[in-house]
Amino acid sequence: MTSARQKFRDFIGRPGVLYSLLGVAAGVILIASLASLSSLIVNGWIRHDMDMRAELIYRSIRDQAAASGVSEKSVLSKVMQQISEDERILGLGFCTRDGKLAISTSEMPANLDCAEFAHQTAEGATFITPKGEHIRINFFPLTVGETSGKLLVVHDLDIVDQRERDARLFVTVTMATVAAAFAILAMVLALALRRSWMQSLRRALEESARPASDAAGPGVLANRDRQIDALLADIRVRRRFTHGVSAKWSPESLRDLLHDELPGAQVIIVSNREPYIHNRIDGEIRLQIPASGLVSALEPVMRACRGVWIAHGGGSADRDTVDRDDRLPVPPADPAYSLRRVWLSDEEQDGYYYGAANEGLWPLCHIAFIRPTFREQDWAMYKAVNQRFADIVVEEATCENPVVLVQDYHFALLPRMVRKRLPKATIVTFWHIPWPNAETFSICPWREEILDGLLGSSILGFHTQYHCNNFFDAADRCIESRIDRENSSIWLRCAETLVRPYPISIEWPPRALAGQPPAAQCRANVRARFGLGEDVRIAVGVERFDYTKGILDRMRAVDDLLTQSSEWIGKFVLIQVAAPTRSKLDAYAALQREAEALANEINARYAREGWKPIHLVVRHHEPDEVFELFRAADACVVSSLHDGMNLVAKEFVAARDDRRGVLILSSFAGAAFELPEALIVNPYDSHGMAKAYDRALRMSAEEQADRMRVMGEQISDRNVYRWAAQMLLDAAWLRKREKIAARA
Ligand code: G6P
Repeated sequence: MTSARQKFRDFIGRPGVLYSLLGVAAGVILIASLASLSSLIVNGWIRHDMDMRAELIYRSIRDQAAASGVSEKSVLSKVMQQISEDERILGLGFCTRDGKLAISTSEMPANLDCAEFAHQTAEGATFITPKGEHIRINFFPLTVGETSGKLLVVHDLDIVDQRERDARLFVTVTMATVAAAFAILAMVLALALRRSWMQSLRRALEESARPASDAAGPGVLANRDRQIDALLADIRVRRRFTHGVSAKWSPESLRDLLHDELPGAQVIIVSNREPYIHNRIDGEIRLQIPASGLVSALEPVMRACRGVWIAHGGGSADRDTVDRDDRLPVPPADPAYSLRRVWLSDEEQDGYYYGAANEGLWPLCHIAFIRPTFREQDWAMYKAVNQRFADIVVEEATCENPVVLVQDYHFALLPRMVRKRLPKATIVTFWHIPWPNAETFSICPWREEILDGLLGSSILGFHTQYHCNNFFDAADRCIESRIDRENSSIWLRCAETLVRPYPISIEWPPRALAGQPPAAQCRANVRARFGLGEDVRIAVGVERFDYTKGILDRMRAVDDLLTQSSEWIGKFVLIQVAAPTRSKLDAYAALQREAEALANEINARYAREGWKPIHLVVRHHEPDEVFELFRAADACVVSSLHDGMNLVAKEFVAARDDRRGVLILSSFAGAAFELPEALIVNPYDSHGMAKAYDRALRMSAEEQADRMRVMGEQISDRNVYRWAAQMLLDAAWLRKREKIAARA
């Protein structure tokens, strides 16, 4: 019994059944309402018709009664009898003022009480006769000869009821027939579509299953694959809609996704920068979390996914903290995944990291007007290091088809190298920096190898659609490939790579926010540390000392602000925190020198007793310190000259649970597409930026809160778990597709 009830519940619970029942119920209610409405309308028409007819009859009788020769009752009686032969009239009568029925036609209902009608002032009324007949009588004043009274025109209302019923029945039957016809048509169409879809899929699979000799070559094979792809594309659209967009993503839901969509899959991340660095300082081992957007985004994802993270062990005490397989469980305080460190010699670092990656590809991809340097020996080292990391991926793989998440421009060749060794791996590569336009990219002497290497990936992700488009253009121009813009993919040697935008983000709420004192306390701490008075307003900038970040430009804007609006002198400071980075390279060392000189110059121009406008702090800050600064600030300035996304902008918003502070954001950072509620600036326009500082410092608390709320909602919805989930969902989809192809 219980199981029957359960079966019934399951049956009702299916979306198709539920929607059909709801549709039928809605249809019944609609038809019933229309039927009632139609009978009301018919009733109204007939009654109006009766009243008109009664009026006409009255006029005709009145005229005849007034005419000579028909004033006699007998003559009038005949006239009335003739008129009442009309089937729509039940009878006609004449009641005298003293209540006698002086004239009545033969069908007139018996027992009508004339006294009741003689003095009626209304024009008509409805009655039920003692015999139960349902009638309507219209009364009109009439004088016959010397006698005055009322003319009664009697209609049979049963006819009206009958017509109402007929109308209701007609409407109900017609509507039900039309609805049934539509439902049958829709069902036939749906079945036909489903059938043709299934037939095409079957045909494609059958063709694929035929021996190679039957086939007409690789073109045909590719064509079949495309057919299968196209057939499955609509499912993907539905899946992405239900899974990718609507859900609120968290570590738990990301874990569930892995469990449901990629059951048993091993996740391996490869990046150059490691998430935890051990350094020996003053004889003690200290743990450092590096200043890297890549690390801050991927670390929470990896904690949720578990698996292995392969990265360069660059810390001075890194070798002292691993086991004999170069692994260590991390995070050290609460291990969730394994970090596999890879050792690089100075020579390897010079060629691969400093040379090819940071003097070649980094300036090539960022429009910061720093000329890229392409050295052949750097490229040779880049290839060798990519191969070494690829070998370690294979070594770490515990199955033939792991999910390998390749990070950034340090590993453009690695996807193809892994693909050769693990053909069944799902390789998802994410390019964390911008991709240049085809014109710019074409200056790179290694362009074909880079494109070929990246197209060894199953999925290639960028932050924005714009960067994807640039990549399509580069592939179109530089290599023999087929670009499928409809499906957002590129075919190279019969293998497809999806090229999609996945805007990266941060964890929400961020870990560094936990344990932070209230914003007022953070402000007091920061004021005390920098010796700032109560009335001094604070803007902060936090980044690596990189020429793409526009650090000089934001300082020049401070200069402009103090020149244009002297009331800010003594009342405003920019605290610029800059972590030294890639200092071995000339461009970076020069930037640091130039920034320090510019800060000194501006400070010298405006400094007063106990106050200077720019505080430049050149050292690495741990996330807790950065968040304290964010919470103390009136404004945060992100003036990148070019940036893939920029997570500092998102972290500033996340740090302000008090909904205060203003974000000043460069239009050339990917984050500007997602956070238009920031004050958007052009970092090359220092006067415009100065105005933005001024506006930020004068913005009402209410406007600050409105802007912060909208940005906060955006970031919490589109957090880093969603970023990872979208890529993993696409990876899961690819694996399912491959399974179908493998069966064929
Ligand atoms: C950017 C790159 C990352 C890199 C980070 C820090 O965000 O996209 O790959 O880790 O800069 O640079 P570094 O060279 O110190 O790792």
